[in-house]
Amino acid sequence: MQVQVISSVNEASSAQFVHKTAIIIDVLRATSSIITALAAGSSGVVPVETVMEARAAHQEGDLLCGERFCKKIPGFDLGNSPDEFLMNAVKDRRVILTTTNGTRAIHKSTKAEYVLIAALLNASACAKAAIDLRRDVVILCAGSHDEFAIEDGLCAGLLLSRMQALHAAPLEMDDFGLAMLSLYQDRANKIKETIRSGATGKRLLKLGMAKDIDICSEVDTCMGVPRLQASGDLLVCSCS
Ligand code: MLT
Repeated sequence: MQVQVISSVNEASSAQFVHKTAIIIDVLRATSSIITALAAGSSGVVPVETVMEARAAHQEGDLLCGERFCKKIPGFDLGNSPDEFLMNAVKDRRVILTTTNGTRAIHKSTKAEYVLIAALLNASACAKAAIDLRRDVVILCAGSHDEFAIEDGLCAGLLLSRMQALHAAPLEMDDFGLAMLSLYQDRANKIKETIRSGATGKRLLKLGMAKDIDICSEVDTCMGVPRLQASGDLLVCSCS
């Protein structure tokens, strides 16, 4: 099984995903929020790229959610904090979500055979799902401001380590994948500290969002692996 790791959404092209399983990572915070919302009982998360698309997709009963510059979009119900999805009534409600990088990364991968949503929160379950699908894998680290983000790289390394443990033969990783595996092996006992020291972590700390870093640094607390599926004109992440 071949596994390629892409360092940021900017580096990805749609053609790289054809016939493969895509795994999308945005630890801070889009994919952590999607996983949390579904674990809290949301009926589905619709990732869209723009505020206008979010408003157009919104139907009665939906929650309109998302951020720009890490802050809730004016007039929206919720921002992009996993804590908000834990604390609010998302059960049986559809979440429409637009974020700066994460939802863009999801849309970049739609040519893939399967699209899985990963974060530290569901890393082991996602690694197993990817191995079970028996396709070559492309892991896309969403990054931040079109640049690599260390928290996404750590999560890619964790996924690789779990996938390798489940796969009978050695995985064929690209060089960036090998580097992310080494990063994870080096920092496995200092995940939260590493995330806090990265650029996105520092930005969230400055904005008073330390709790989000705490939540997003948890490993394997969720068993659900959201998958992207078409539903009418929209794409929906759900764990069904
Ligand atoms: C994104 O998708 O750009 C991030 O999730 C930003 C954020 O932390 O809200």
